[in-house]
Amino acid sequence: MTFHHRHLCLLTTLFTVGCFLIVTADAGYCGLQDNYYQTSCPSAEAVINAVAVANFTSDAFALRFASGLLRMSFHDCHVDGCDASVLLDGPGSEKTAEINHFLTGYEIIDKAKEELEAICPGVVSCADIIAYAARDAIVALNGTRFEVQGGRKDGRVSIASRAESQLPNGDMGVDELTANFALKGLSRDQMVVLSGAHTSAAGHCPGLVKRLYDFRGTGQTDPSMPQAFADQLKFQCPKATFNESVFITMDTFTPFFDTGYYRSLQNHEGVFTSDQSLYDDERTQPLVNTLTDNNLFQAKFGEAMRAMGSIGVNLDGEIRKDCRKVNTVPY
Ligand code: HEM
Repeated sequence: MTFHHRHLCLLTTLFTVGCFLIVTADAGYCGLQDNYYQTSCPSAEAVINAVAVANFTSDAFALRFASGLLRMSFHDCHVDGCDASVLLDGPGSEKTAEINHFLTGYEIIDKAKEELEAICPGVVSCADIIAYAARDAIVALNGTRFEVQGGRKDGRVSIASRAESQLPNGDMGVDELTANFALKGLSRDQMVVLSGAHTSAAGHCPGLVKRLYDFRGTGQTDPSMPQAFADQLKFQCPKATFNESVFITMDTFTPFFDTGYYRSLQNHEGVFTSDQSLYDDERTQPLVNTLTDNNLFQAKFGEAMRAMGSIGVNLDGEIRKDCRKVNTVPY
């Protein structure tokens, strides 16, 4: 990182918690680096990859864990920065928030941490484990590999209400989504690109209640939904008897990490309002159309993940010994 970049980081730190988003083509974001553990724990990325892949491939259903880890990286970074606050146990911590109800993959992070502590104790942060595992998840789902920077430290604070207030929800339109991402230093285009994570995603019925049965307080279904698509979602999510184990695939083409999500939006088959609005809004529709080119999507997604992975990075925190608890003694 050049002096100029470091200076910008420090300046921004005065206004935000930790190190905010500074985009540089040649250097890391705010002290983060590629191959960060190459001397301190050379097998770190390989160990995380092996643990993640073992979990993803145990059966076809286990690929859902891959998608879960990708979402976890977003829910970590978007709430007070990428500091593994989402992993902390305890009353009122982020993982108890309603918006994190369906988050999965905690055990995979625990397992990777356990293996890393056995070979390089106190070296690899939980926040970095999430970031590497999310990348490995994308690759497991047929996405293109990208370099992930390391160097994040783990935070000591995790508050459920902060997850509820900082994360976007599925009922938002482009204005709200753009404003939400701007607060994290991410552009509208990056928001559209990162939403492509929904190409291998599944939603659940509770998040669809309003759109299917009481759109904007009308007591009706969102009128912009094609009838057959609305009928199919209502069949999966009958009003009276929501089943939490029902998965609603957010890409109607394939379960893989590809352009199917954007093609679903072009077919007006975006599951949540936040998805469909990206195509329905004339400001974001051109980019949705462009992202149906798979090579472009994969390249843009990797770049955007690197940007997301640098939100509010804390270089002064700790390396947790157990990802679910803050350290009781300095480590
Ligand atoms: C643009 C704003 C976003 C909104 C409003 C949003 C909203 C949602 C909603 C409502 C769900 C379904 C939750 C459920 O019912 O279980 C979901 C799932 C998911 N989201 Fe997002 N999301 C956004 C951005 C992102 C980003 C940036 C990523 C990652 C880079 C991401 C990754 C995922 C994944 C992978 C799932 C599926 C998780 C699974 O299958 O277990 N989302 N999102």
